[in-house]
Amino acid sequence: MSNIFNLSDSAATLVIVAHPDLENSRINKRLAAELERRGNVTVHRLYETYPNEIFDVAREQALLTAHDRVVLQFPFFWYSSPSLLKKWMDVVFEFGWAHGKDGDKLKGKELLIAISTGGAQSMYQAGGFHNYSFSELLRPFQQSANLTGMIYRPPFVVSGIREVSDEQLEKYAADYAVYVEGRPAVSGTKG
Ligand SMILES: Cc1cc2nc3c(=O)[nH]c(=O)nc-3n(C[C@H](O)[C@H](O)[C@H](O)COP(=O)(O)O)c2cc1C
Repeated sequence: MSNIFNLSDSAATLVIVAHPDLENSRINKRLAAELERRGNVTVHRLYETYPNEIFDVAREQALLTAHDRVVLQFPFFWYSSPSLLKKWMDVVFEFGWAHGKDGDKLKGKELLIAISTGGAQSMYQAGGFHNYSFSELLRPFQQSANLTGMIYRPPFVVSGIREVSDEQLEKYAADYAVYVEGRPAVSGTKG
C-alpha cells in the first residue's frame, strides 16, 4: 500500500476515500481494499486521518501536487458527498492555490468521481424516483474541476447497492481498479 506520508514513493493517482464508517461499509470498503491490495495508487482515508475534522491543509495540498489524477470516492449522501469531503474541498482548494490569481496548482490534473448509491440507476433519470441523472447531480464537482482547470472524467457508479450480489461486487472491484488507472471500465461508468 502506498503511504500518504511518503510522497516520494507515491503513485500518480490519489484516491480520497470519504466514508464516515468505512469499517461497517460494504461497497466502499471493498472498493478501497481492492486498490490497497493492488498497491499502485495512494489511498487516503479521510475520516480516519482526520477524526477531529481539522485538516493539515499544507499536507493535503502537497499530496495533491504529487499526483496527476485525483479520485474522490464516497457513498452518495443526500445527492452529494459526505460532509467531510465537502469541508476538505472548502479548505484545501484555496483561493490563490486552486483558483483565482496564481491559483493553478490543480490545473491539468484529472478528476474522477466514484460513488455508491442506494437508488438504482433507473431511478436517476427524468421522471424516475430521483428525477435527475448522476451527471446532473454531480455538476458541482464537474464545475469545480472546470474552475480549477482539472479534467473531469465520467464517474464510476455502483448503484442500487442492495441488489448488488457478492459476485457482482467482486466484478465492480476489479472494474474499479481499471477505472482508477485511467482506462475505461466495463461496469460502473454510467453517468
Ligand atoms: C445520510 C445518508 C444519505 C443518503 N443519501 C442517499 C442519496 O441521496 N441517494 C442514494 O441513492 N442513496 C443515499 N444513501 C444510501 C447510501 O448511498 C448507501 O448506503 C451507500 O452508498 C452504501 O455504501 P457502503 O456500503 O460503502 O456504506 C444515503 C445514506 C445515508 C446514510
